Amino acid sequence: MQFGYFDDTRREYVITQPDTPLPWINYLGCEEYFGVISNTAGGYSFYRDARLRRLIRYRYNNASLDSSGRCIYLRDDDSSGHLFWSPTWQPVRHPLDEYECRHGLGYTIIRSKLAGIEAQIRFFIPLGENLEIWELTLTNQREGPANLSVFSAVEFCLWDAQDDATNFQRNYSIGEVEVVDNIIYHKSEYRERRNHFAYFACSEPLVGYDTQREAFLGSYRGWDSPQAVEKGQMSNSLALGWQPIGAQHVKIQMKAGEQKKIIFVLGYHENAQDEKFDPPDSQTINKSTVKAVIARYLQTNEVEKAFQALRIYWDGLLGKLQVSTPDDHTNRMVNIWNAYQVMVTFNFSRSASYFESGIGRGMGFRDSNQDLLGFMHLIPERARARILDLAATQLPSGGAYHQYQPLTNRGNNDIGSGFNDDPLWLILSVTAYIKETGDWGILDVLVPYDNQVGTEEPLYGHLQHSIQYTLERIGPHGLPLIGRADWNDCLNLNCFSDQPGQSFQTTTNKDGKVAESVFIAGLFVLAAREMVELGKKLEVAKKEGKAVGDFSLLPSPTLLQNIAEMEKAVWAAGWDGKWFRRAYDDFGRPVGSKECEEGQIFIEPQGMCIMAGLGVEDGRAALALDSVFEQLATPHGIVLHQPAYTRYYLHLGEISSYPPGYKENAGIFCHTNPWIMIAEAKIGHGDRAHDYYLRINPSARENLSELHRCEPYVYAQMIAGKDAPLHGEAKNSWLTGAAAWNYIAITQWILGIRPTYEGLEIKPVVPSGWKDFEVRRHFRGIRYLIRAERRATGNGVRLEADGKSIEGTVIPVPPAGTKEVRVLARIG
Ligand code: GLC
Ligand code: GLC
Repeated sequence: MQFGYFDDTRREYVITQPDTPLPWINYLGCEEYFGVISNTAGGYSFYRDARLRRLIRYRYNNASLDSSGRCIYLRDDDSSGHLFWSPTWQPVRHPLDEYECRHGLGYTIIRSKLAGIEAQIRFFIPLGENLEIWELTLTNQREGPANLSVFSAVEFCLWDAQDDATNFQRNYSIGEVEVVDNIIYHKSEYRERRNHFAYFACSEPLVGYDTQREAFLGSYRGWDSPQAVEKGQMSNSLALGWQPIGAQHVKIQMKAGEQKKIIFVLGYHENAQDEKFDPPDSQTINKSTVKAVIARYLQTNEVEKAFQALRIYWDGLLGKLQVSTPDDHTNRMVNIWNAYQVMVTFNFSRSASYFESGIGRGMGFRDSNQDLLGFMHLIPERARARILDLAATQLPSGGAYHQYQPLTNRGNNDIGSGFNDDPLWLILSVTAYIKETGDWGILDVLVPYDNQVGTEEPLYGHLQHSIQYTLERIGPHGLPLIGRADWNDCLNLNCFSDQPGQSFQTTTNKDGKVAESVFIAGLFVLAAREMVELGKKLEVAKKEGKAVGDFSLLPSPTLLQNIAEMEKAVWAAGWDGKWFRRAYDDFGRPVGSKECEEGQIFIEPQGMCIMAGLGVEDGRAALALDSVFEQLATPHGIVLHQPAYTRYYLHLGEISSYPPGYKENAGIFCHTNPWIMIAEAKIGHGDRAHDYYLRINPSARENLSELHRCEPYVYAQMIAGKDAPLHGEAKNSWLTGAAAWNYIAITQWILGIRPTYEGLEIKPVVPSGWKDFEVRRHFRGIRYLIRAERRATGNGVRLEADGKSIEGTVIPVPPAGTKEVRVLARIG
C-alpha cells in the first residue's frame, strides 16, 4: 500500500493522506537557518544548532504524535457551530475534504480543502536568509462570500533546548516578548547574554495576538482546541515567564471565487553587541537592523522570487550528476532524492530529525567524513570547509573526538574519543575531495589539533597522524585494537557493563589491550593504500606545478610495508575459511566466526576488507560474498550478522542489548549494504550489486509502505532484520550514512563514474540485462556527457572521448577552456 506517489517532473513526493504510518518529514533550508517539517507541518526550526539556537519548542520522543510545530487554524466565522480546522490537518485533525502534501527540495507545500475553502501553504527558507516563510493562499470556492478568521501559532524556545526540557523552574520565569507594529518578538534572555532574538510577522494587520500560551490555549487544553480559536478572539496577552508563544489573528473576507494570500515570516536575527538596544540605555530590542528584511518578505512578489531562486539553486546542484538508466528507481533516487538526502546528512550529520533530538549528538567525526563522500561534487567549497573543521577536532594523539558541536566546533567531551576507526575516515574524505576537485592546496592548510592555537600543522600531517594512531594500537594478533567501538558503535568489547543506564559507548572496564577489529584492519588497508597513491600523485602534481606540498611525505615503502603486515595479520587471524572474521574479544576469542555460537558472520568486514582489495584477486572475496549471499541477504536487504544474539553478552556490549533483528543486533543497516554492493562490483558482479541496491532502494520499496512505514523517498538507518517479528519495517529515517554510501555505490561503482586524480574514470559494472545508459556529470568545471552501450557480456570497457579512442578507463582532464566532453563507453 502507498500513501502517495512520486512526481518526478516537479521533483516532489506527494502524500495523499495525512495519517501516514509515521510523520513523513522534509527539511527546509540549506545554509544556516533550517527547519524540520512533517507532512502536517509539525517539527521545528533552528539557526545552525538545534540545541543552542532553536526557535520553535519541540517535544521529544514525538515520532507518531507529531504534536508541536507550525500551527495554522482556519475558523469559519459565519458558521453557527464555529467550525475551525487545521488546513495542515494537525493539530486539530478535523477530517478534510481534500489533502495533499508535496515535499520538494527545500520546501513543503500542503494543500487542503474543507467547507468550500481551499488552503495552500508553502513553507520554505529563502536562500541567504535566516527566516522561514509560510505563504498561505486561500481560495473561496463557495457560491457566496466567506468570513474567515486565520490564526497562526508557534511556541517559542530560543534558549538551550536541553535546558528547556529539564530546567523549567528557571525557564518558567525568563520568557519575554515585545509586540510592536504588528510583529511579535521573542526576546527571552536578550536582556543578558544573548544578542539574538526571534520574530514572527504577518503581511495582514492583526486583529489580535497572544504571546502567553495559556491565554491562547486555555488551561488544560491542547493545540488541537485552543480557546482563542474556538471563541474567535485573542486576548493580546504579553508573556512574562511561563510559555512564550507567537499567535496571530487575522480576519479575511472573501467574495465567491476570490483568492487571498497571507504571508507569515518567522525569523532569527542577531544584533551587534553594542547595538542591542534602542534607545541604547533601554531594554527594548533594536529593530532597525531587521526591519528591511521583514518588510521584504511580507510581499508576495518577493516571496515568489525567492521561491524561484530556490528552485534554480536545486536545479543547478542536481544538474551536477544526472543519469538515465533502464531502471526508474535508480534514476529517481540518483537524480533527485538520494542527492537531496546526501545534502541533508551533510548539513545535519545525526543531529536533528524525528529520530535524533538535535540536543544530543552534534556532528559525528566518522559520520561526517563519510557523509562528505557523497557530497563533494555538489558544493566542493563547503566540503573543504567541513574537512578542515573536522580535522581541527582531531586530537594530538591522532585520535578524534567522536562528536562535536557545529556552532562552536568544539569536541564533545561527554562522549570523548577512543573509537579507534574514527581518524582513518578522514583519509577517505580528504583523498576523495582532492580527486573530485584537483585542489591539492588543501593538504598545505595549517590545521590545529583539538582547536588549540599553536598546534597547527598542514592537513597532510593530520592524515599521517591517523595512520600512526592505528599503528600505535595493534593487538595480540597484529590487528588494530578496537577501543570503545569501531564503525559498529554497539560492538563494545571493552565495556563489560552490568549496570543499567550506563552508556555503552563511554563505559570501559577493560584496558583495551586485547580486543581487536578486523574491520579496522580492512579500513586501515584501504586508507593506507589511499595514502600511497596520494603520495605518488602529489609528487607528480608538484612537478607539474599544481601543488606545493611543503611537508615531508610518509615514505611509500614504509606504508607498503604497513599494508603488507596488516594484510598478513588479516589472513592469519581475520579469515575464517569462508568469510572474514569480525573481531577478537577481550579474552582473545574470535567474534564472527563459525566457532561462535551466535554472531558467526558479520557484514562489515566482508564489505570493508573487499573494498580494500583483500581477496579480490585470489577468489577469497568471492567466497566471502557468497557467504553473505547465503547467510545474510534477505529480500529487505542484508542483515548485519547471523545468528542474531538471543541474550545479553557482557563481553560484547550494546550489540546484544537489542532484541534480535533490531538495530545493531542483526538489523539491516542501510549504511553497510552499499559496501557489499561495491564489493560485488569490484569482483564484476553487476547483477548482484544492483539487486542488492534495489532491495533497500526507498523508491523500490514504496509499495511496501505499510510495512516499511518510513518515508519512501529517503533511506532509513535500519530495516528490521529477519529475526524481528516485523521484518522489513524501517526506522530512523533521513540522517544516516546510508545516504552517501548508496549514492557512491550506485554512481561510482555500479554505473562506475569515478573521479580520480588524473581525470574521470568510467568503469561500469551494471546488470547484464542493461543495454545502455547515459550519465551527465560535472567534473572540475567540465560537463561530461557519457553514453554507455553494451556490446557483449562482461564488464570490459572501451572508451572514446570526443570521437578519439582512449587507452584505459580514465579520461584525462582535457586542456583548459574545454567545456564539454562527449564520451562513448562500449561495454563487454
Ligand atoms: C549510527 C552512527 C554511526 C554508526 C552506526 C552503527 O548510524 O551514527 O556512527 O557507525 O550507527 O553503529
Ligand atoms: C546508540 C545507537 C547507535 C549509535 C550510538 C551512537 O548506541 O544504537 O546506532 O551509533 O548510539 O551514540
